[in-house]
Amino acid sequence: MPHPFSIGPLKDHCPQWLATQKFSRILILCDENTRSHCLPYFLESTGLPSDTPVCVVPAGEQHKNLETAAWVWKALLDAQLDRHALLINLGGGVVGDLGGFCAATWKRGIAFVQVPTTLLAMTDAAIGGKTGIDFYDVKNTIGVFRNPAAVFADPAFLGTLSPKELHSGFAEVLKHAIIKNPLHWQENEILKPFFNRFPENTGRLNWREILRESTEVKLSIVREDPHEKYLRMLLNFGHTVGHALETYFLRTDQPLTHGEAIAQGMLMEADVAETATPALRDILPRLYPPRTIPQDAWPELWNIMLNDKKNKAGAVRFTVPASEPYVMKVVELNTNPWA
Ligand code: GLY
Repeated sequence: MPHPFSIGPLKDHCPQWLATQKFSRILILCDENTRSHCLPYFLESTGLPSDTPVCVVPAGEQHKNLETAAWVWKALLDAQLDRHALLINLGGGVVGDLGGFCAATWKRGIAFVQVPTTLLAMTDAAIGGKTGIDFYDVKNTIGVFRNPAAVFADPAFLGTLSPKELHSGFAEVLKHAIIKNPLHWQENEILKPFFNRFPENTGRLNWREILRESTEVKLSIVREDPHEKYLRMLLNFGHTVGHALETYFLRTDQPLTHGEAIAQGMLMEADVAETATPALRDILPRLYPPRTIPQDAWPELWNIMLNDKKNKAGAVRFTVPASEPYVMKVVELNTNPWA
């Protein structure tokens, strides 16, 4: 295990863990949404005093930047967090990435805990120690690898999310299922209620089991390759094209959700790599209808892809699952095959 990880009610895991630690002080980081919807439950479940200092940042990826990081560092200063203190990140991917980065750089690194509150953060972002912020709108350009002291995924927080947010996060669940079983992922019984009539079927989804299966994939990959020398690149499946689409459409009046962008990215990347299966071609566009890409968007999209951290020697580089579990195919492109 790269770090302690639990799935289940916070009250069953978090208070015992905190009691075994000797933190000098604790500060909780939230955004405006998690302060209202998650903080009361978190305090009640953990038994932490209601006057535990809280730093609140504005919600949204557009705030995962240096300015907000400075705001968090100032809160750590005001709360006098020394090297033996703990920062608890209560939120989705933005809060986890930002808080992890601020903790990792504060006094050369203090402990932090991830308490993910979105599906995306529970299955992906909170696990494996990637922390960071965006810089001049380029995603996660400044950051470090640093493992959290622990991750507590409580499915109760999923009840605070809209069907749109659950639908978006589910694209990462599908990505893990495809990586684990590229040819037969569509036969997974736990995922089938999602394939059939989401969101009406949300109540029939067994979130605890879905989280268990999905996080097992992520945990086993980051255990094997914590610093993304090779195998961990597979977790970026769909993200080279997906991030470009997400960034491009964010500037229009019809933004894509992260999940929509990643699902379209998975299909486009697998097509170019010639690994797209009939199930991928059938199920993904049904669940995440692809957006038409205007011809004049391509120079900008290609430019965004050229800025991706995973590139090497000026070529756009991404990885897709091959036909065996946990086996990948690396694709390098010098010219744009989609335009
Ligand atoms: N989200 C991809 C990774 O953690 O490597």
